Amino acid sequence: MDLLEGIYSRRSQRHFTEEPVGRELLLEIIKAGTWAPSGLNNQPWRFVIVADRPLRNRMAKLTKYSRIVYEAPACLAVFLDREAVYHEVKDHQAMGACLQNMLLAAHALGLGAVWLGEILKNAVEIRGLLDLPETLDLMAVIAVGHPSEWRRSSQRKDVSEVLLKEI
Ligand SMILES: Cc1cc2nc3c(=O)[nH]c(=O)nc-3n(C[C@H](O)[C@H](O)[C@H](O)COP(=O)(O)O)c2cc1C
Repeated sequence: MDLLEGIYSRRSQRHFTEEPVGRELLLEIIKAGTWAPSGLNNQPWRFVIVADRPLRNRMAKLTKYSRIVYEAPACLAVFLDREAVYHEVKDHQAMGACLQNMLLAAHALGLGAVWLGEILKNAVEIRGLLDLPETLDLMAVIAVGHPSEWRRSSQRKDVSEVLLKEI
């Protein structure tokens, strides 16, 4: 898939079949995340693959988007390692780049994915559920699966609305 075509055609997918996603595909998505740029190349991201059904059920209870977490055969919890942080803003920017790479990789692999941010209201509970140390801050959960229907439309402001100046 051409890179620009991938960027423009990727959409958040929120409906999935029960077909599991192979571990190799999940690892490929994570690998794409790790190829994001980061300040000083410090690579502050850490990942947890959550495919276990009982665990996903418990995770689902921690977001109003529970239906998505129940339905997606795998969730990727993405953390910022505070022990790797050198600059608060720049490290969070790197995490955003990592997450976007992961979404694009899922799309390129023919999978559907959605970035779940609302679940951050229960970040501490998620960390506890996954038995992780306090040095890890949850940045997002990406729900991944084979879409049962492809959502294709979305809206963006025209570039002319967001381009402040051309000097
Ligand atoms: C920081 C962030 C948090 C988000 N949180 C959620 C969420 O909790 N639930 C959800 O269904 N979608 C969530 N999304 C997906 C957005 O709703 C989606 O990207 C946006 O509506 C544009 O649609 P598109 O991705 O299909 O182009 C989130 C996206 C970002 C970047």
